[in-house]
Amino acid sequence: NDHFKIAVLPGDGIGPEVVAESIKILDAISEAFHYKFQFKYGLIGAEAISKTGNPLPEETLEICKESDAVLFGAIGDPSFDNNPDAKVRPEQGLLKLRKELGLFANIRPLKTYSSLIGKSPLKQDIIEGTDIQIFRELVSGIYFGEKFTEENGEYAYDICKYAKEEILPIVHMAFQEAQKRRKKLTLIDKANVLDTSRLWRKTCQEIAAEYEDVELEYMFVDNAAMQLILNPKQFDVIVTENMFGDIISDEASVIGGSIGLLPSASIGEENGLFEPIHGSYPQAKGKGIANPVASILSTAMMLDYLQLDLAANKLRESVEHAIEHKYVTSDLNSKQWYSTSEVGSFIADYIKYSEKSYYN
Ligand code: IPM
Ligand code: MN
Repeated sequence: NDHFKIAVLPGDGIGPEVVAESIKILDAISEAFHYKFQFKYGLIGAEAISKTGNPLPEETLEICKESDAVLFGAIGDPSFDNNPDAKVRPEQGLLKLRKELGLFANIRPLKTYSSLIGKSPLKQDIIEGTDIQIFRELVSGIYFGEKFTEENGEYAYDICKYAKEEILPIVHMAFQEAQKRRKKLTLIDKANVLDTSRLWRKTCQEIAAEYEDVELEYMFVDNAAMQLILNPKQFDVIVTENMFGDIISDEASVIGGSIGLLPSASIGEENGLFEPIHGSYPQAKGKGIANPVASILSTAMMLDYLQLDLAANKLRESVEHAIEHKYVTSDLNSKQWYSTSEVGSFIADYIKYSEKSYYN
């Protein structure tokens, strides 16, 4: 199969700008490798609320369900963040989409680039060579438990719930990933306090025997938050519940020097959604300064998912080439920098031209 249906949801803030660069990259990939990508655009988030009143319009959901993969930009808008009383919120669109598509595993790879090592506020010898895969559970836990706010606005709760069958699939996935890597899996939890965490531990313990070659380790989330910046190289694959994964992956992004570099894949039984881990960064909207690399590397993860390995590797190589040659946005070089679209074009051109010379 060389024909793919891609749902494109640019969303809010800088989402549309960075997704436009990913489309440019996919056009270059089609040209170089002769694949065909058919793009269908959908509304989501604050934009969808202002146009339809619904953060995830039915039509958008349909486009996604019919697609082979979903390319996603960003979601969120300050006008909602500053209004805790808003009943309809942009984030609900993304959460509902994750749930509807059953995207239970959110995979967030993290590594350092030698030419960017000085960009991290952390010491070079501590971070150099870090290579971590975070597996975050994405469709359960406190994000999806019952929530309630009392009429008087003075009492509220969010319930954190997990069923064993929600934990098992992502833990298997994480074990299998560890087998392909350095064979270490760390479960991050708060099992000294939370019942749900104890259920995660028990579930991991139960299946550990199927993965005897993998060393399984447990770490409390507070300690993990510290260990991640004290000694990130101790981690190989991390598996954790929804909210802990949200928090520690933003924290871990500091290791790479910029959150603008980090991609993610959200995988389910039948579909995959690919999005940068950074948010909508509204302050940068429309300025052409957003780093498109996180979205572009998310596109590489999409190509992995579609089993277009050659194209995915070519794309990663092209990104590395751009970074090594300091063809980067201002977050990575405040003295000499290029715009969002210049960086995207540089990478797209490299894909086209290096691939042509390779085949000719
Ligand atoms: C993320 C984001 C989302 C999350 C928000 C936008 C709902 O922070 O993908 O990490 O919390 O999952
Ligand atoms: Mn987050």
